[in-house]
Amino acid sequence: MSPLRSTAWYAGEDRNAYIHRAWMRRGLPDSAFEGRPQIVIANTASDLTPCNSHLDEVAEHVKRGVWEAGGVPHNLPVVSLGETQVRPTAMLWRNMAAMATEEMLRANPVDGVVLLGGCDKTIPALLMAAASVDLPAVVVPGGPMLTGTFRGAPLGCGTDVWRLSEEVRAGTLSERAFMESESSMIRSRGHCNTMGTASTMALLAEALGATVPGTAGIPAPDSRLLARAHDTGKLIVDMVAQDRRPSQIFTTGSFHNAIVALAAIGGSTNAVVHLLAIAGRLGVPLTLDDFDRIAAEVPLLVDLQPAGRYLMEDLYRAGGLAAVLREVADLLDPDAVTVTGKPLVGTLGEAQIWDHEVIRARDKALRPSAGIAVLYGNLAPKGAIIKPAAASPHLLRHRGRALVFDSIEDFHARIDAPDLDVDADTVLVLRGCGPRGYPGMPEVSNMPLPAKLLAQGVRDMVRVCDGRMSGTAYGTVVLHVAPEAAAGGPLDRVRTGDWITLDVEGRRIDVDVPQDELDARPPSPAMRAALAAPRRGWERLYVDTVMGADTGADQDFLVGASGDKVPRESH
Ligand code: FES
Ligand code: MG
Repeated sequence: MSPLRSTAWYAGEDRNAYIHRAWMRRGLPDSAFEGRPQIVIANTASDLTPCNSHLDEVAEHVKRGVWEAGGVPHNLPVVSLGETQVRPTAMLWRNMAAMATEEMLRANPVDGVVLLGGCDKTIPALLMAAASVDLPAVVVPGGPMLTGTFRGAPLGCGTDVWRLSEEVRAGTLSERAFMESESSMIRSRGHCNTMGTASTMALLAEALGATVPGTAGIPAPDSRLLARAHDTGKLIVDMVAQDRRPSQIFTTGSFHNAIVALAAIGGSTNAVVHLLAIAGRLGVPLTLDDFDRIAAEVPLLVDLQPAGRYLMEDLYRAGGLAAVLREVADLLDPDAVTVTGKPLVGTLGEAQIWDHEVIRARDKALRPSAGIAVLYGNLAPKGAIIKPAAASPHLLRHRGRALVFDSIEDFHARIDAPDLDVDADTVLVLRGCGPRGYPGMPEVSNMPLPAKLLAQGVRDMVRVCDGRMSGTAYGTVVLHVAPEAAAGGPLDRVRTGDWITLDVEGRRIDVDVPQDELDARPPSPAMRAALAAPRRGWERLYVDTVMGADTGADQDFLVGASGDKVPRESH
């Protein structure tokens, strides 16, 4: 076994080793510095990330496992992002959180790392960091919250906020009842319990091979999560001994497995930008088209909100991710290994479906082909995505006139105007919401429908946007249009009244304007005026260097890995 990375800090009798050890002692025994793996717990616990606020308790159980296996655990609070709190969007700081975590892991005497995340951006950021520093790493997802109920019916986080608020706007639910539901929404610790981005990324972390098998999806208050945290602490010490690193685990085959899982669970569209960004850190050649290609033969097996009925607690009760993956085991890469060093497919043997309504057997699939459709056309030369399972079947092939909004403020100011020229066939277009434009590619693409159409009973319309949509949302929404309008994409030159054709089966999104005419149109001054123009700080760096959604919206200078080597001493 090669010497531990941390011995470069702690071994020896020179002045520097003295300093490194002396300041760290504080009750640690001498043996802590005598060749024992130094395990860091990259912990996104924060009171301002309510979905992750219980992770300090999870960290304590990781520590027990680390001690038991002979390692020395250290808690490292890292940048945390609370999806519901952070403005203008948590996505603006995903790459910063990843960069800060990567740098702190590299700078410190760390041999291995346990990644504690939960809320939407936290697991992606941690995986990006781990990929770029390439130290042995394993994820403990914080787990979903328990199912809340309101007036006798389950409440799905996020999804039911959208649904109930549209009921209020349609006049079918009172404001008072809406306010009453607020205190029932969040029943316990944990992240959103729908198949939103947090649940999706936790399950995909497991499908990628980044967790102790069977950990993702355990509800946050379930004591089995703490037991798995303990196991994870033991495992990371072993991973250090085996020198098992992200670059060996997260291969093309692992991403293949994650995409199969994404389709079978009916996961969030946000997984596309996150998986692309993680792959970019590893040099794995993943493209937008891989999502469409791999998912084409994967059936939708999980009936969870927002597209379906149940919630994460039900999924775990019904057999969890392993039961889902076992149904599609033949579609998985047989060689892709997990943090245990064994293939993912080898961990599925005992899995069973205990509730066939929540998890469907392959021959009773909810849809024969799930996944995310990747669209191209003169409106999206570099691609756009749509989640057909969350869309209305009658709108998957649609032609309608564009109604264009130049910013989210423009949208809010006009959408409910009684004289707005709009009907159920209109295609709502919102631009300036990409990574560079907003900035940060917020979840605004699932635009609320015009009040007057809601009142007429309209519940879905075709919408097109260069932003993202919440993983808890639904509707016929064309997302992540690339290039974004702020980067000169053709979305910038669409005008109200243009005909737009959506053809999901044909994988097309086009505006019916001759190409030379479209190219010759000037950019929209109203959109330009609304774009972000930060002068300093992270926002400035972000806008100057962020890449498009089609490659994962990472910063151009963060693609790839720096590794764990730090050549110089600090004193
Ligand atoms: Fe944190 Fe949904 S807001 S997971
Ligand atoms: Mg979300």
